[in-house]
Amino acid sequence: MTSSWHVRPALAAEVEVLAAVHALCFADATVAGPAWSAQAIADLLSLPGVAALMILDGDQPPGLPLGMALIRTVVDEAEILTIGVIPDARGRGLGAALVQACVDRAASAGAAALYLEVAETNTPARRLYAATGFEPVGRRANYYHLAGQPVAAMLLRREVSAGGTA
Ligand SMILES: CC(C)(COP(=O)(O)OP(=O)(O)OC[C@H]1O[C@@H](n2cnc3c(N)ncnc32)[C@H](O)[C@@H]1OP(=O)(O)O)[C@@H](O)C(=O)NCCC(=O)NCCS
Repeated sequence: MTSSWHVRPALAAEVEVLAAVHALCFADATVAGPAWSAQAIADLLSLPGVAALMILDGDQPPGLPLGMALIRTVVDEAEILTIGVIPDARGRGLGAALVQACVDRAASAGAAALYLEVAETNTPARRLYAATGFEPVGRRANYYHLAGQPVAAMLLRREVSAGGTA
């Protein structure tokens, strides 16, 4: 795969595609929570300030996106609700590109800060967020139950600027 992928907003009509990608991304129950249904994603997208992003491989014929994210902006704070890259496409910078797209989206929506929660045991995601400028601002013990085990959530934050690259 080349780096010809691109990120675009998902349409409300694409909730089934988003759910299929989310299911692939969250198949490993030991690192992250369960996959979300198309209805759950549709319900989120119906809320004010919620948007979905998809990352697609420009070299391939139309098919499933390689990753997706949902982001919610409320006044001057934004939150990444979920983010994932399908297993076959990991380790090539797509996760970082999706995070950057979320930062840009948050900035254009008027947010000054971007938050997210991540399982303390989710090493790939925690390294992705550390590499993209997030810092821990809180911890919630026993927040997740992953593969039957209680796992703490880390609350992470990074600033965003109007230009989206701060
Ligand atoms: C977390 C996730 C989105 C990362 O996607 P990705 O496309 O592999 O990420 P990138 O290739 O952009 O990697 C960015 C950085 O993250 C870190 N990273 C990503 N995957 C890693 C892994 N398996 N092990 C160690 N570090 C990893 C690296 O530091 C990397 O920086 P580098 O390229 O300078 O080495 C992906 O693993 C995923 O979808 N996981 C399942 C769903 C999930 O956990 N979502 C987050 C819930 S909060």
